[in-house]
Amino acid sequence: MTHTIEVIDRGDKVEAEDGQTILNALLEGGVEWLHACGGFCNCTTCRVKIEEGEENISDMEEDEKNTLRRFQGDEVLDGPFRLSCQVKVYGDVKISEPEWL
Ligand code: FES
Repeated sequence: MTHTIEVIDRGDKVEAEDGQTILNALLEGGVEWLHACGGFCNCTTCRVKIEEGEENISDMEEDEKNTLRRFQGDEVLDGPFRLSCQVKVYGDVKISEPEWL
């Protein structure tokens, strides 16, 4: 079963296997996406903003929460921001690149 990930602010669309991370699907689909720590939940350069399909992605684990907090502060957890190397997809999602650093 595959799902579609659409990067709405870039016009890119890739297919993802059920349970694949957003980052892996983007890279396999030929979409360039920053991932400075190599997908090990140890930076926040792979961040994405979830625009649609929040119900189709995995919940945030402690590791991801801690990394987001460490680099971006507590308030980031209130927003629709995720680390693409940690988010698994189980349905179609639409994402964009966050504007914050
Ligand atoms: S690539 Fe570093 S946290 Fe995802």
